[in-house]
Amino acid sequence: MPPRAPAASVRRFQSWRFGLFVHWGLYSAAARHEWVKYRERLTDQQYQPYFDHFDADLYDPGAWAELATQAGMRYAVLTTKHHEGFCLWDSDLTDYKVTRTPHGKDAVGPFIEAFRTAGLGIGLYHSLIDWHHPDFTVDSHHPQRDDTAARSADTGRDMGRYADHLNGQVRELLTRYGGIDIMWFDFSYPDHDIYEQPISDGKGRAAWRSERLVETVRSLQPDILLNDRLDLPGSADFTTAEQYQPAGPVLVDGHPVVWEACHTLNGSWGYDRDNLDDKPAELLVRMLVDAVSKDGNLLLNVGPNARGEIDQRAARTLREIGAWMRLHSSAIHDAGPSTYEAPDGCRYTQRGDRLYLHLFTWPMKHVRLPGLAGKVRYARFLADHSEVRRDEPPADGAGSTLTLELPVQRPDVAVPVVELVLHDS
Ligand code: GLC
Repeated sequence: MPPRAPAASVRRFQSWRFGLFVHWGLYSAAARHEWVKYRERLTDQQYQPYFDHFDADLYDPGAWAELATQAGMRYAVLTTKHHEGFCLWDSDLTDYKVTRTPHGKDAVGPFIEAFRTAGLGIGLYHSLIDWHHPDFTVDSHHPQRDDTAARSADTGRDMGRYADHLNGQVRELLTRYGGIDIMWFDFSYPDHDIYEQPISDGKGRAAWRSERLVETVRSLQPDILLNDRLDLPGSADFTTAEQYQPAGPVLVDGHPVVWEACHTLNGSWGYDRDNLDDKPAELLVRMLVDAVSKDGNLLLNVGPNARGEIDQRAARTLREIGAWMRLHSSAIHDAGPSTYEAPDGCRYTQRGDRLYLHLFTWPMKHVRLPGLAGKVRYARFLADHSEVRRDEPPADGAGSTLTLELPVQRPDVAVPVVELVLHDS
């Protein structure tokens, strides 16, 4: 197995902590979830209108990058191709691509350019699954799953050829746009898949020829980070918790690993017009803090609409997160877990001699910090740098608990944070 990413890439990725996931494709025009083709069992012909009318007249990746930057995000991952098979770049290997739609222009290049200019790291999501490619065999995860003729053995579909196509497209993506920070493949469902449902026509490392893909990625971009969805143990630089918060630092074979949780704003990755199930910004801030306190990253998704705009609700949520990040990013960027154990209803993050107490609940007057007596030089709220007074236990006492005195009024921010400056030692 080729070597994994250099330690410097891993450290940089972990210092970013917060990124933007962007799901954008033809499903954005259907506007009812990125799995719409599968859910509604649409044929290629029924799906064609979204291609024929894809004209993203308001696509302005500079505006997306600005929103991401204001939200305190440090990197972004774009869907170059989702399961529907539609390519957002001008691939030589298919006509099912953005340059053949009325939009008529590459969309990946301008995205990379805009986010790079804004100083953000760049990740490319690429679907292993392809519901449009003529060689991709029709399985139980496919929109045509009920079509017995399409599923029969003699359709002439050839996964070997598909794997070559997949490899060739990845090669295009990693040779045309300069240095890419993250390659984010999605996803494998080998027999008896992750959902523990018996699947007998699954696809995994053999179907994708994952070893070869890893070699392609590593040889073209030696500094890149690779995610864990190739069904190839030992090949990943980080794991991807999807739509849940791990209970603690993520362990693989008993060892802590680099991880990133990815979350939607409303349960759908692609633009979903009638879905109003938005997570409040305050919850999202708590999720970000929770991830960092467990040594993870948060990749938060937006699904721009078919005109290429991030809708107002999503933009508002990002701005609200940004209002918190403007005052509290020092507790997130470059920060990680602490060896101190946080009191109930709180999380700790730490960066060098700065220990950050994130208060998810607001106690009456006192918060008690076990193990911190005699360890803290100064305490203040991050929001306004106002002092938070401390009650140290008597010097001759055996107590090791430091008590902080909180005002009755909770600071008016999504999550109040007390910065504890620790004594050197
Ligand atoms: C899943 C879904 C998909 C989404 C992805 C993000 O695997 O198939 O629609 O892109 O997760 O993690």
